[in-house]
Amino acid sequence: MVSNHRVWFSDSKKMTNVASESVHLVVTSPPYPMIEMWDPLFKKQVAINEALVRKRGPQAFELMHQELDRVWDELVRVLVPGGIACINIGDATRTIDGEFALYPNHSRILTRMLQLGFTNMPNILWRKQTNAPNKFMGSGMMPPGAYVTLEHEYVLIFRKGGKRLFKTEKEKINRRQSAFFWEERNQWFSDVWMDLKGTRQKTGDKKLRKRSGAYPFELAYRLISMFSVMGDTVLDPFLGTGTTLFAATAANRNCFGMELDKAFQSMIEDGIEQAIEQGSRRITDRFEAHDTFIRAREAAGKTIKHTNQVYGFPVITRQEKELIIPFPTTFQKTSTNEYRVDYEVPAVATGDKPISVPKKVVSKKTGQLKLFN
Ligand SMILES: C[S@@+](CC[C@H](N)C(=O)[O-])C[C@H]1O[C@@H](n2cnc3c(N)ncnc32)[C@H](O)[C@@H]1O
Repeated sequence: MVSNHRVWFSDSKKMTNVASESVHLVVTSPPYPMIEMWDPLFKKQVAINEALVRKRGPQAFELMHQELDRVWDELVRVLVPGGIACINIGDATRTIDGEFALYPNHSRILTRMLQLGFTNMPNILWRKQTNAPNKFMGSGMMPPGAYVTLEHEYVLIFRKGGKRLFKTEKEKINRRQSAFFWEERNQWFSDVWMDLKGTRQKTGDKKLRKRSGAYPFELAYRLISMFSVMGDTVLDPFLGTGTTLFAATAANRNCFGMELDKAFQSMIEDGIEQAIEQGSRRITDRFEAHDTFIRAREAAGKTIKHTNQVYGFPVITRQEKELIIPFPTTFQKTSTNEYRVDYEVPAVATGDKPISVPKKVVSKKTGQLKLFN
């Protein structure tokens, strides 16, 4: 098993490099209109600069979104039928000319995506854990002019057309192997994510990371695991520091990334190498969490009916019987901004005899092979 990754340092309003119907999933976070840190980028468009100079908030908001619309328009073309787009976006609050207002980015993007013919799936509210929420106090303790603080962002989820079809036997097997654990489903498919820790990558220039507005690895890893299968192609048209690409590496998906700012190039390259280790750690955590979950259920006297055919451990549902989670092993730069990652595949998946648990699933605490022994 291998995955291939490619980064273009170009404008995603023109996706000429990306073939029609070649992308299975989009996971992305655009620059947020009306959030000051993104003003310099939007202001390159003269009309937007003028609107801000003239203190016309709603006009600047609309013009900034018209820039993003050009990227959303391309998604219709590049996604396969049944492909999914996950867009992480936060609303903005801003005082312009003495007038405080909310600029509802999520609703403007949602409206555009519906106009383009996408179907909206239930969205996720990401409750951001922050020590210092950006509080606009307004009238402070006095009604009615005090303002609610924004402490969440959205992950808007759209599908192109009806359900994706898996027609051939090979496609069906791959889909079953791409399953997640029952207990993961219960957590991941909640519409409020309270538990996402800001898994910060250790690599790279801290200032650059801050300027990028990067999202946590786990956000991208979860969405990729939830809405695509192994071997799929994931696109991030606003790649930034490369988080989506690192998560795709960990999840055995291919990835295309587009990014305007070449300053991220070395950070992405360093990051993809580190993503092998980060991915292996995340996969080990998944196996360990499953072990803990199963042991707790057994201790509570509950019977567990099914066994995973590859690893030989108990699972709750029939759908998890063929689940595999390959470990990324090696990384290779194949050309400028192109990378290949290899994976260790469990023996059953290659047609050999059933094996026990992968070697790498070693308890961090005891150093022992801990799982289901
Ligand atoms: C919110 S950041 C994405 C952060 C990313 N999710 C991460 O984890 O690092 C948005 C990124 O989009 C890039 N960008 C903005 N407009 C773009 C465009 N038209 N084409 C390609 N990249 C663009 C910006 O330079 C910025 O790095």
